[in-house]
Amino acid sequence: MGFPAVRLRRLRRTAAIRRLFDAPPPPPSKFVWPVFVVAGEGRREPIPSMPGQSRLSVDELVRDLEPVVAQGVGGVLLFGQAEGARDAGGSGAWDERGVVQRAVPALKRAYPELVVMTDVCLCAYTSHGHCGPLDARGEIDNDAAIGLLSRVAVSHAAAGADVVAPSAMMDGQVATIRSALDENALDQTLLMAYSTKFASSLYGPFRDAENSAPSAGDRKGYQASAANPRAALRESDFDEAEGADLLMVKPALFYLDVLAELRARTDLPVAAYNVSGEYSMLIAAAERGWGDLHAMARESLMALDRAGADLLLSYWAPRYRELFGG
Ligand code: PBG
Ligand code: ZN
Repeated sequence: MGFPAVRLRRLRRTAAIRRLFDAPPPPPSKFVWPVFVVAGEGRREPIPSMPGQSRLSVDELVRDLEPVVAQGVGGVLLFGQAEGARDAGGSGAWDERGVVQRAVPALKRAYPELVVMTDVCLCAYTSHGHCGPLDARGEIDNDAAIGLLSRVAVSHAAAGADVVAPSAMMDGQVATIRSALDENALDQTLLMAYSTKFASSLYGPFRDAENSAPSAGDRKGYQASAANPRAALRESDFDEAEGADLLMVKPALFYLDVLAELRARTDLPVAAYNVSGEYSMLIAAAERGWGDLHAMARESLMALDRAGADLLLSYWAPRYRELFGG
């Protein structure tokens, strides 16, 4: 049967009819807010390239989280920075008195129901801004890096993090971190692998926020090539085999095909990292009057949900109610 006996528009003619069939928006519990923590008290530094986001000291973060937790947002993902001078190995990253290590227990105390995740990397702590130490030839020393990343992960987990999330894209980082956690009686700590993480042009605002751009070279020797999705998916397969509890695709919006493919091939939960560039470009467009901010944000988040993301790591998380109501 065809037109005119069939009229497809009948099923979407009115808002009341559409409402019967439209999928609900992703619930707030699926959202995780990535936040930038800095040392000190009463510190709040707005990030110019990420309007609405600030670097916050722990006390300010605890305050800002109250309405976020009240909306039912599922978790936070903490990013720290070196407090003193950075060194070649990024030793500030595993300092027991580091800002992440101090933030975790404060957040768990204030909001026991909030899942606290930590980014495990070295780039905000190394003098050269790479995600691992350099060898004599100036190349990333993979096998040294995974030992250092394990120290970082153990220090976060010992502070009480529910989830540690290695993002350095070093070979063997998941297996090495998992055994280090287990050896330290931290076998209940979840490990979320930044498993399929691309070398992307969309991390710029984040690198401003974190001051973590490499001083020389780029990250293409460790992050996956956007032009080679098969190799990028193999990274997730390996992380699953190495014992990751959750996998991730990052960035998310430019890689929905990869996200859907990963969702189809694993039974692990899959997170989508809606990265800084994806957030800031919508704000920039809206500021120029080139689109409605709320509508664009909602549509982008619905795309991630539809592609199969189980978890949405997104700078929109604190504005959930503003976007979706409820
Ligand atoms: C660092 C890291 C980056 C992001 C998360 N962890 C930047 C990078 O790899 O250069 C990007 C997040 C974002 O853009 O929102 N390992
Ligand atoms: Zn890094």
